[in-house]
Amino acid sequence: MKDQLEDLKQRYVALISALSDEKALSEARTKVLGRKGELTAILRGLKDVAPELRSEIGRLANLAKEQLEKMFTEREAAVQAEVEKAKVAGESVDVTLPGRRSFFGRTHILNRVTDELIELFGGLGFQLAEGPEVELDYYNFEALNIPHDHPARDMQDTFYFSKNVVLRTHTSPVQIRTMEKQSPPVRVICPGKVYRRDADITHSPMFMQIEGLWVDRDISLADLKGMLTVFCSEYFGEDFALRFRPSFFPFTEPSAEVDIQCVICGGSGCRTCSFTGWLEILGAGMVDPELYRFVHYDPEVYTGFAFGMGIERVAMLKYGIPDIRSFYENDIRFLHQF
Ligand code: PHE
Repeated sequence: MKDQLEDLKQRYVALISALSDEKALSEARTKVLGRKGELTAILRGLKDVAPELRSEIGRLANLAKEQLEKMFTEREAAVQAEVEKAKVAGESVDVTLPGRRSFFGRTHILNRVTDELIELFGGLGFQLAEGPEVELDYYNFEALNIPHDHPARDMQDTFYFSKNVVLRTHTSPVQIRTMEKQSPPVRVICPGKVYRRDADITHSPMFMQIEGLWVDRDISLADLKGMLTVFCSEYFGEDFALRFRPSFFPFTEPSAEVDIQCVICGGSGCRTCSFTGWLEILGAGMVDPELYRFVHYDPEVYTGFAFGMGIERVAMLKYGIPDIRSFYENDIRFLHQF
């Protein structure tokens, strides 16, 4: 039995070092150490061995088992390492492949246009002023000369938090907030989101405006016209004329709506301008002296102008965007064009 053990050990030692693939090694392991393996059979047969030889043979058999197990494990690890090495060596790097681009976010087009406008008006001497989107009825309507029962409220229905707290319908409340805090001269530009109870193809319940306000001694309608003309030629180019149409706002007197010659067709008429050649971009006027009562300015000394522009409209004209809804759909294919 001793010889049998010795022979088995030698056969497997030779076999293990000769094998060089994982599957063959695993098969060999089963063949000798598995449940029906050769060495397992010997260990089972120990009970038939003469008692005086049993412990000696048992010791040798267990020793053989341990040795073979260790050899298998070592050989398996070595074979595996070889395989890995061969795999890496077989892989070559194709240096001509194009690199992978990383994905960068960017400023939303509306924020970009807002920044451009702040910068442009900054160059014309306007400081940045901001106000809350959740606004008091007082600033959004009352102090802008729109009393509770005034029909002008109809055009700017909004979302009410309570009787006196609303989502602002325009950036004009920032006019009052600024004048309350500061005595003339004031020259501010106020961008931000505004809300109205309005939703169709050309209206969104949330949109953006930018408000301009300049109050000082001797400010006239000519200053308003001059300022807006400079703005237009700076932002859209010099080829586009402006047109002032008489209009009404409770907080300006006189009031005007300002159209720009259609930047898409140059004024000959197209779908964007409904074949009129003109596009409305803002409301404006001379600050109604009535407002000065609310902020304690002397209407005999000071005059001023204000204007309110739709940022979406400006962006659409500047970048040729036909549909206002594109701004809010979060379609990366759209947003990445700007
Ligand atoms: N607040 C007005 C609107 O939203 C626009 C406007 C601003 C008109 C300032 C005149 C002066 O329609």
